[in-house]
Amino acid sequence: MQTLWDHRYALRTESMSSSVIRELLKLTTDPEIISFAGGLPAPSVFPVEAFKKAAIRVLDERGSEALQYGTTEGHKPLRDWIVEYSAQFGININADNVMISSGSQQGLDLIGRVFINPGDCVLVEAPTYLGALQAWNAYQADYVSVESDEYGMKIDALEDAMRVGPKFIYLLPNFQNPTGRTMSLERRQQVVEIAQRYGVPIVEDDPYGRLRFEGEHLPSVLGLDSECTDLACKAPYGGNVIYLSTFSKILAPGLRLAWIIAPENVISMLVKAKQGADLNTARFTQMTTAEVCKDGFINKHVEVIRKVYRERRDTMLDCLDEHMPEGVKWNRPEGGLFLWVALPEHIDTTELLNEALKDKVAFIPGAPFFPGGGGHNNMRLNFSFSRPELINEGIARLGRVLKREL
Ligand SMILES: Cc1ncc(COP(=O)(O)O)c(C=O)c1O
Repeated sequence: MQTLWDHRYALRTESMSSSVIRELLKLTTDPEIISFAGGLPAPSVFPVEAFKKAAIRVLDERGSEALQYGTTEGHKPLRDWIVEYSAQFGININADNVMISSGSQQGLDLIGRVFINPGDCVLVEAPTYLGALQAWNAYQADYVSVESDEYGMKIDALEDAMRVGPKFIYLLPNFQNPTGRTMSLERRQQVVEIAQRYGVPIVEDDPYGRLRFEGEHLPSVLGLDSECTDLACKAPYGGNVIYLSTFSKILAPGLRLAWIIAPENVISMLVKAKQGADLNTARFTQMTTAEVCKDGFINKHVEVIRKVYRERRDTMLDCLDEHMPEGVKWNRPEGGLFLWVALPEHIDTTELLNEALKDKVAFIPGAPFFPGGGGHNNMRLNFSFSRPELINEGIARLGRVLKREL
């Protein structure tokens, strides 16, 4: 049906594509489909009881405050909590460096809004997070992709790409979406050094860093930035990194609650952009979450999540061993929500998905994660959402589909 709106869309909508993931998730509402497609946390780990108690306490004690508009920067006690929480990972900032956002997805959009002019080049890993591309496509960003291996961005490829003069580098150092890969400490240090040398700032997106099942926690790129390493320094952070993290994967994504750490002047600009977007993130949610977080709840709760996800990752790895035909390869992430599969070159996973859906199993094809092309024979599998028995059945189905295709 035609309406008067049809010829009035802004030019920027031409570069806005609908997320393949969202479109697919629509298909996977069929309860018979076992979906490894979405990046959904396990509902069984949502701390429903803790939120119930905290919400009642907030409403009983400060109900009218919680239901009022709030400051754009965010609820101060929650920002203070983030300062304290970050300190345990060597990130020394103060509350003026912190802004609360309505999900990290909003953080990415606001970064696009304040930094990206049409045609500006953003340096990304190949593959990279699709949601960031979606956010920045709306601002007509161009991308230069840097080839990655199991240790993260390849450093010589990064040096080459820096010559293009990117606006900023976008990094996902921990249990990356989509691959589940973790950037090694050496590469993190090298990226910080190269960024410094070329005078290019870094956006570090870290939703999964706490979900490590094995191995040592690695310092964030923000933590490696020299501005952040002086423990005695109580001055605000004034370095070259904007760091994003979220409550989505350590509490629940339905909260739509996340935070941005940045130099004060960047925070001021992001605040201006956020005012135009939503005035402030839901105050009731912020106050309830601050109540849940106090007294070390998160550190205890991530142990629960890690245990459940580790078991699911191991189940998926065992099932892949059992059911995948020869020529299929996959990695073994040390944490997070995803693993990454490589099929023989001649297989196109977007076409394969149609076949898989007939057999009632879903995954995300690799290609959309590569803005510069590639990934046609890769797929992302999520292991956090499905219970182990469903992982077993789903991977068996996928194995049958692949045996047929190969
Ligand atoms: C790398 C990355 N960044 C950002 C987000 C968005 O997170 P949020 O739920 O906080 O909007 C996700 C969600 O899956 C993600 O994987």
